[in-house]
Amino acid sequence: MNAPLKRSLPNAADAFWMPFSPMRAFNEQPLLFDRADGMHYVTPDGWRVLDGMAGLWCVNAGHAQPRITEAIREAAGRLDFVSSFKMTHPAARSYAQRLCAFAPDGIERVFFVNSGSEAVDTALKIARAYHHARGRSARTKLIGRAKGYHGMGFGGLSVAGIGRHKQDFGPLLPDVAHLPLPYDRETMAFSRGLPDGGLAAADALEELVQIHDPATVAAVIVEPVTGSGGVYPPPRGYLARLREICDRHGILLIFDEVITGFGRLGTPFAAQAYGVTPDLITCAKGMTNGAVPMGGVLVSEGVYDAFMAGPPEAIELFHGYTYSAHPLACAAGHAMLDVFEQDDLLGRLNAVLPVWQEGALRLRSSPHVVDVRTAGLLCAVELAPRAGVAGARGQQTYQRCLDDGLLVRSSGDTIVLSPPLIAGEDDVETIFATIGAALAPTA
Ligand SMILES: Cc1ncc(COP(=O)(O)O)c(C=O)c1O
Repeated sequence: MNAPLKRSLPNAADAFWMPFSPMRAFNEQPLLFDRADGMHYVTPDGWRVLDGMAGLWCVNAGHAQPRITEAIREAAGRLDFVSSFKMTHPAARSYAQRLCAFAPDGIERVFFVNSGSEAVDTALKIARAYHHARGRSARTKLIGRAKGYHGMGFGGLSVAGIGRHKQDFGPLLPDVAHLPLPYDRETMAFSRGLPDGGLAAADALEELVQIHDPATVAAVIVEPVTGSGGVYPPPRGYLARLREICDRHGILLIFDEVITGFGRLGTPFAAQAYGVTPDLITCAKGMTNGAVPMGGVLVSEGVYDAFMAGPPEAIELFHGYTYSAHPLACAAGHAMLDVFEQDDLLGRLNAVLPVWQEGALRLRSSPHVVDVRTAGLLCAVELAPRAGVAGARGQQTYQRCLDDGLLVRSSGDTIVLSPPLIAGEDDVETIFATIGAALAPTA
């Protein structure tokens, strides 16, 4: 007998086990959105909420961008799926070429994956395999940084620097070390532009590789701007100094640009904003405007070439995913690049950035604010925790903003912002006025 298609579950509405969510509290009071357009989400009963987070740092061109929607629709009707294992489709090749042209000079190849986590694990594997291909198999150590977030795979979790994310899962990768966060509240709080103090902070890498033996280190991975860990821009000169130290010791430098890629800093990637080109760049999120899952590892020619030394009929990299270069994702990726070109997304964003920085820094005079950090269209407003209840003030501010029609993200007691890049000056004013009101003492 066939199994019944429907069974009655005790809590049918609660079957979805959601990521990073307090399930029991959520199910008591679920927050649902069932439509979105431009800068807004809409709830099933028609309430419009200004999206201060571009979804989850990904809807860079605004929600339901019509050209992206149409490209996905067209692709779905033409080629639903083809694997990229020893075959592929034309849009995968043309998108790869266009994407590499959008990326910094020196980046000439892309390996497609389906998420930021897969991009990070792929980049770490490519880094180790690169050294192996060059006969340096002892180079396996990986260096991350405090407060780094690199997704949820075992590799990304190992190099990440947020302790709570690791506690429940047993041993992670061995041979991983971490740089300190280049941040000092005393000297860097409320910085306008990049804070000073970069060189000393980066020199921690020289110390670390000496402790671990430089000839055993494969790669250093950092987010150019720490994102999920609380928006910490790199101090002036910091990334260039990391580059120098990596070069000195033959270590690969990986920028995790899952958040900073696709325009967030007013340039295609953070590498261009800060004038430092890494060997590998991981990206995802804004790549398809969040409309279809996709990620990628952008690879420099030197790294790619190291794999091409064997016989031409031999597979060079034993790695890949069923959905690498999925036709719908490639269509969305192409359309996203069209939007960048046709709408001058970066030009418009750069015009708004001074208003963003000023609006953010005005919150300095609001109660409880101990730092405001901005980088491109990112912002963190850090609040002093309420005595004995870490996170409570952040949660309350989040809730007050939401009640007032603004979706922000609270990470502990830090309010984090990353709206769509199409935000106008009026949206920016609304965002900071709403946060200011949420922080004001209640009568
Ligand atoms: C810097 C960074 N790397 C990796 C990831 C993981 O991406 P995903 O959630 O798509 O796996 C994220 C997600 O926020 C991220 O911010």
